[in-house]
Amino acid sequence: MDIQNLTFRQLRGDEQLPYDLLLLADPSKAIIEAYLATSKVFVAEKDQKVIGAIVLSPLTNIMTEIKNVAVTPELQGQGVGKYLIENAIQFSIQKGYKSICIGTANSSVGQLYLYQKLGFEMNEIKKDFFIDNYPEPIHENGIRAKHMIVLTRLLEEGL
Ligand code: ACO
Repeated sequence: MDIQNLTFRQLRGDEQLPYDLLLLADPSKAIIEAYLATSKVFVAEKDQKVIGAIVLSPLTNIMTEIKNVAVTPELQGQGVGKYLIENAIQFSIQKGYKSICIGTANSSVGQLYLYQKLGFEMNEIKKDFFIDNYPEPIHENGIRAKHMIVLTRLLEEGL
């Protein structure tokens, strides 16, 4: 994948939401709809086709959260996820946020690797989050998704 050929932009209110992608990152449409109400949705496009999405939602006026990030399955592992997160970080810096966080399951081993590689550090565990908030058990990598690990990155210039 030539990242140079990708574009990153915010979806307009009148455009269709990429639910096929959003549901890859979060199996609950009800939970997605709840956070979309207060979020901005961005997409990565290749040849004007959406191949990835990322959702940003402010937590306070200095802290924002990546609520959802997903890449078309056939194109995963080629740098698009990294591209989406780096662009979301740049957008958040431009908007004046001082930190950005992302939550993922204890079982999301690859995601925990990716986020830490991009400068996020683990700072909170929401115990039993996936047991309490999702009706069906979720398993990944042979591990039950039980707890949410929240990782945070400071956004001061120069970091
Ligand atoms: N296992 C191991 N390593 C991984 C994984 C994984 N599952 N995903 C990414 N990585 C590593 C890559 O090897 C790469 O490492 P490198 O820089 O050392 O080569 C690095 O992370 C960057 O990977 P990308 O190619 O940019 O990742 P990708 O384009 O696949 O996007 C994403 C990552 C968004 C997690 C994608 O795989 C995906 O859509 N997965 C399904 C949905 C999902 O789980 N979303 C996140 C849920 S949490 C949330 O949304 C807040």
